[in-house]
Amino acid sequence: MKVAIVLGTRPEIIKMASIIDEIKLKGLNLVLIHTGQHYDYEMSDQFFLDLELPAPDYNIGVGSGMHGEQTALMIEGIEEILINEKVDILLVQGDTNAVLAGALAASKLHLPVGHVEAGLRSFDETMPEEINRKIADVCSRFYFVPTEQSAINLSLEGINRNNIFITGNTIVDACFRNLKIAKKKFTNNSSIKLVKINESNDNKDFLLNLNELDNVLTLTLHRAENVDNKDRLNNIIEALAELNDLNIIFPIHPRTKKTLENFGLFSKLANLKNVHLIEPVGYLDFLFILSKSLLILTDSGGIQEEAITLDIPVLTLRYNTERPETIAAGGNILVGSNKEKILEKANSILNDENFLNQMKNAINPYGTGDSGEKIVDIILNSYKNNELKIEAPDDIMNSFSTEIIAIDEDITVFDFEKKNNGNIRIVYTNYNDNNSIEFPLDDLNLKNKFVVFDRYKN
Ligand code: UD1
Ligand code: UDP
Repeated sequence: MKVAIVLGTRPEIIKMASIIDEIKLKGLNLVLIHTGQHYDYEMSDQFFLDLELPAPDYNIGVGSGMHGEQTALMIEGIEEILINEKVDILLVQGDTNAVLAGALAASKLHLPVGHVEAGLRSFDETMPEEINRKIADVCSRFYFVPTEQSAINLSLEGINRNNIFITGNTIVDACFRNLKIAKKKFTNNSSIKLVKINESNDNKDFLLNLNELDNVLTLTLHRAENVDNKDRLNNIIEALAELNDLNIIFPIHPRTKKTLENFGLFSKLANLKNVHLIEPVGYLDFLFILSKSLLILTDSGGIQEEAITLDIPVLTLRYNTERPETIAAGGNILVGSNKEKILEKANSILNDENFLNQMKNAINPYGTGDSGEKIVDIILNSYKNNELKIEAPDDIMNSFSTEIIAIDEDITVFDFEKKNNGNIRIVYTNYNDNNSIEFPLDDLNLKNKFVVFDRYKN
């Protein structure tokens, strides 16, 4: 079996790592395609080193640019590679332009696409990521969703439940495995070598002594809706200025550095005594710094997940999130770029022990760290059962009717579908209550529930 993986940015490398490890462990053939969207050493190569990943077989080298141009170059490059390599399946991860390009290129070649971290929705169409993940989900064959909530999102969009697999999120695999390695590497007497960013751009190496690492707040910021908006950036900087008892460690994304400079805000931030501006750091260093943090301020998707995995309270600098499970669990609070809200919640975490403990004790919704193994097992089984081929149907099309059925029988989803020749889309425990939606897992008992059912007519 030959598996192609497309990745192109920092989070994709991190979240694909356990899948790549598992592919190697099982002796499958791997074709690793880097789009080249992230190209700085700090945004790409250092993650291959830290995570001990094989070098990509191809780098399409798209670089930075407008979304249309970047995506078009990716599609062209990926299509050519897929035709030459004759792979059995393509895996993409998350919501970047690589996901959109990979899913489009492969599906047009009738290759099955496995979307890792499928089904997330912010319901905010202004986010490029929301468009990418929705289009990728139209083109995919396997949906590896992190939670039941993301499975329900897909079911409500009409995706067949048999193609949806709740696997947890591979970020937990990466986090657990690498935090252990990082803790072995660093003791309390060691130092982390960081590159401090100055206003004059004569960046200097410095050693951060871990003994001195107290009162840490880790900050990251790169989302277009924040960093391309001067007022929002300014509000966030003004909030940071008031958190002067903290050591704010801010590995700055290249996009953010550029926009701060363009808006004339860079020196305002760099002059804050409590903010340590550094180049983006490798995964081991970053996890270690995170693990020492009292709290996290971020607009990153992956870091919202890592925070709840590491039991660290996170304030998310956004007005919505495609990770609502973290909010429902109590480990994450949306504060937008509102200065008062940021300060109010940060002060509650720092000064109110009950508040802090409630956030720290939030249950991680993203699984136990075996997502990569589960995903590779699923595709390998499908390959062995000859289910990866996508071929034009040669039987006359079935029609179906969609019905809502109240069930009073003691019967599971699997048995109900067999008995009634059809497919359950979604289950309602209480028809009148929005919160009572359930994903139709095979062994879910349907007694006293309602189902939306597609009945096939032969
Ligand atoms: C991309 C993803 C985003 C993801 C983020 C992870 C899309 C649409 N966006 O956003 O979903 O959360 O990666 O970090 O796919 N730049 C450099 N060096 C690099 C890479 C980028 O200097 O190695 C600068 C360039 O000025 C570039 C800007 O950063 O124009 C933005 O890069 P881009 O890859 O377009 O988007 P990200 O903001 O990184
Ligand atoms: N990260 C890192 N070094 C840094 C900043 C972030 O290793 O200096 C990791 C972080 O642990 C997380 C991932 O990068 O796993 C998140 O990437 P990013 O925020 O760029 O993208 P997003 O998750 O928002 O798509």
